Amino acid sequence: MESIKENEIAPKHHTISPAIFYWGTPVVLITTENPDATFNIAPMSSAWWLGNRCMLGLGAISQTTINLLRTKQCVLNLASDSMVEAVNALARTTGSEEILSAMPGEGYKYFKKMNGYAYVPDKFGHAKLTPLKSDLIRPARIMECPAQMEAELVGVYEMMPDVDTKGFIALEVKVLRTHVHEDIRMEGQENRIDPDKWRPMIMSFQELYGLKGKKIDESVLAKIREEEYRGFSNAAEVEAVN
Ligand SMILES: Cc1cc2nc3c(=O)[nH]c(=O)nc-3n(C[C@H](O)[C@H](O)[C@H](O)COP(=O)(O)O)c2cc1C
Repeated sequence: MESIKENEIAPKHHTISPAIFYWGTPVVLITTENPDATFNIAPMSSAWWLGNRCMLGLGAISQTTINLLRTKQCVLNLASDSMVEAVNALARTTGSEEILSAMPGEGYKYFKKMNGYAYVPDKFGHAKLTPLKSDLIRPARIMECPAQMEAELVGVYEMMPDVDTKGFIALEVKVLRTHVHEDIRMEGQENRIDPDKWRPMIMSFQELYGLKGKKIDESVLAKIREEEYRGFSNAAEVEAVN
């Protein structure tokens, strides 16, 4: 059995207490429909994928969360690493007018007010992005994003049940239809993205990065054919939901 290396080698790791654990995840621009039938956009990156589902970690008071809970519809638009201007324009903005009057004790709302967030009702205009009509749902897609997924809300989960501050929730959405720019498609393959062509924007500890231009090495996991996963992902087209 492998022995635990204690005091045998000079330690290079230190115990720290990070205020954030944002190790690096792709930036998603979520579009939702506001009560007045205009569209909201929010950049976020606490998102992970399993099958044809995406789990979104969102502030409960975000306009995006409020819209998603009410309408059950959103588009997950993935930002490429060339979209830094748009993402920075959307950063520290909210479609919720309430932050303007937030008072101490109002948690994340007051945090936003004190940290320079601005109320921006027209996020598309503000970030110079172009709305495209979706096929199955009402929220618009973002033309400039190379990947856009029309999705519907299928689950809402409590986060941090062990503490009193309950500012965040996890929302499970199901991908209904996927649109990808021809530039990132794998040649000769109907349903595949070419990872050598796809350059997602990555948010790491609040800073924006791209991936290196090349894969590090051959991946053992990638020896499994993508189509082997289809049974789990249930990724077939579905009928319209509106
Ligand atoms: C790159 C980036 C990543 C972000 N990731 C998240 C996230 O994962 N979850 C979240 O709740 N907010 C995240 N935010 C902050 C939201 O964009 C912010 O709460 C915004 O006000 C939401 O807009 P809305 O109120 O119009 O929905 C992120 C912001 C940026 C710029």
